[in-house]
Amino acid sequence: MKTVAVFGAYGHTGRFVVAELRARGFAPLLLGRNADRLEALAAEHPGLEHRVASAGDPASLDAAVKGAAAVINCAGPFASTAGPVIEAALRARIPYVDVAAEIEANVDTFDRYAEPAREAGVVVVPAMAFYGGLGDLLVTAAIGDTDAATGDTSAGAIGDIGAADEVHVAYGLSSWQPTAGTLAAGVVSRDRRGGRRVRYTGGRLEYYPAEGDLPTVEWEFPAPLGRRAVLGGFTMPDVVTVPSHLRVSEVHTYMTIEAATGLAAAVPVEESGRTAETFTVDVVVRTGGTQRRSTASGRDIYAVSAPLAVEAVDRILTGRTHRAGGVTSAGEIFDAADFLRALSAHLTVTSIA
Ligand SMILES: NC(=O)c1ccc[n+]([C@@H]2O[C@H](COP(=O)([O-])OP(=O)(O)OC[C@H]3O[C@@H](n4cnc5c(N)ncnc54)[C@H](OP(=O)(O)O)[C@@H]3O)[C@@H](O)[C@H]2O)c1
Repeated sequence: MKTVAVFGAYGHTGRFVVAELRARGFAPLLLGRNADRLEALAAEHPGLEHRVASAGDPASLDAAVKGAAAVINCAGPFASTAGPVIEAALRARIPYVDVAAEIEANVDTFDRYAEPAREAGVVVVPAMAFYGGLGDLLVTAAIGDTDAATGDTSAGAIGDIGAADEVHVAYGLSSWQPTAGTLAAGVVSRDRRGGRRVRYTGGRLEYYPAEGDLPTVEWEFPAPLGRRAVLGGFTMPDVVTVPSHLRVSEVHTYMTIEAATGLAAAVPVEESGRTAETFTVDVVVRTGGTQRRSTASGRDIYAVSAPLAVEAVDRILTGRTHRAGGVTSAGEIFDAADFLRALSAHLTVTSIA
């Protein structure tokens, strides 16, 4: 049985990841900075080992991941935890996967660790969750998979392989009651932006003055959701993951008003189980007058992040990847269509040419 360390194991998302690892036959190694919370979680999972570790103490992280085959980081804000945990993974030479939905932290991971991870032959996958990872898999599947190793492409690819003029990712959430971790991450990201907003346009990430409200536009989701008001310029980590491996000029993300309002209300979700929130992630890719669409729907954006992260770890540990080391995103390192098929118990995916 392979041991997979989970940093932030007792958080809302960490708990889903621990349960998913167990369900799939891995031995989760419970890690976190708070001994009491860690022990309480360990008491719910007799037989699982737990170790206290802190992002500010590299030796504690080294001791914590000892014997693990991989580490999943669920402790956010990731501006504080991603660097230290990645560095511990590089020292231990084990793959690292996180669920970070912080654009700046995601960028930092690519910028700071691409070279060290490549040199160490260690795979590092940031944003391997609902935001960032799922959108990237859908975009890649819509464009047509490119096997990075051979250059082969699946049937039905459009236009220039691995390229698109425009990518649009619309998040059709019925509501969004954020976790404390999401709210804290939002505060960190806002601070780092210093009153600016961020978008991906003209082939690059761009910061611009935050003047006025975000624009409201109408988005036609596939049935049963249908036409909904969404906020344009609601920028999510897909603006980091998608252009990390696809040549694309514009990546735009949208959020249903109901969800954006829920997030702004900032009332954290309290219970630790699944919520009734439903989601549809609707991806439209345009290239040279051709349009492709790929859509995934399901329930509970936090719960579904667990099978996404665990499927990633499973594929990395069994060599089902296009890359052997470096910082990478879901769409680049995995066979996107096959990955999405593997999640059929958690996601309903449809593709429309
Ligand atoms: N990309 C996505 O779609 C996606 C999906 C799910 C979650 N996330 C992100 O993942 C993060 C966690 O979410 P959550 O839902 O699990 O929130 P949560 O229930 O509030 O849990 C946050 C966890 O992070 C730990 N933590 C925070 N700062 C830490 C630090 N400096 N060192 C060590 N541990 C630290 C907390 O431990 P303490 O109790 O000790 O503070 C707790 O275990 C958030 O940033 C969220 O946005 C992203």
